[in-house]
Amino acid sequence: MNRTLTIAATIAVSLTVGLPGSGLAEGDAAAGKPLYEINCLICHGVTGAGDGPVGVALQPPPRDFSVGEFMFDTDGDGAKGTDVDLKTVIQKGGMEFGGSALMAPWPTLSEEQIANIVAYIRTLKK
Ligand code: HEC
Repeated sequence: MNRTLTIAATIAVSLTVGLPGSGLAEGDAAAGKPLYEINCLICHGVTGAGDGPVGVALQPPPRDFSVGEFMFDTDGDGAKGTDVDLKTVIQKGGMEFGGSALMAPWPTLSEEQIANIVAYIRTLKK
């Protein structure tokens, strides 16, 4: 195999398995659940309905994850609420994309943790 082919094959394998930190890796919902409960439940609620103890009092209300409809298209690809969009909003906060500052950025969460939380959020849709 020549060098170009070797590089191409390496890239293909990396994309398939998901490069660490590339954001391509699938999240683990079971690992995301406790992270959601610690960080997000207070606003987004146990079932994701946006009715957490703090969330009930907020305007705009926290997004209702049981509906599964989203507002932000962070990468401008014409689709709202893709995994990339949700991860980016969680990383950078809502204000960055014309939304509410009440949805704060979460710079302390790693990409893997955010991917796991996004996977968990997907399970909350009814
Ligand atoms: C202080 C309350 C609060 C906390 C804590 C909070 N959120 Fe939010 N979140 C909001 C509000 C309010 C909105 C709606 C923002 C808007 O409509 O502009 C929102 C919106 C969102 C959205 C919607 C994005 C879209 O495109 O519609 C996602 C995803 C989200 N939050 C995830 C999270 C995650 C994950 C956590 C925990 C790491 C979290 N939030 C913690 C208040 C909060």
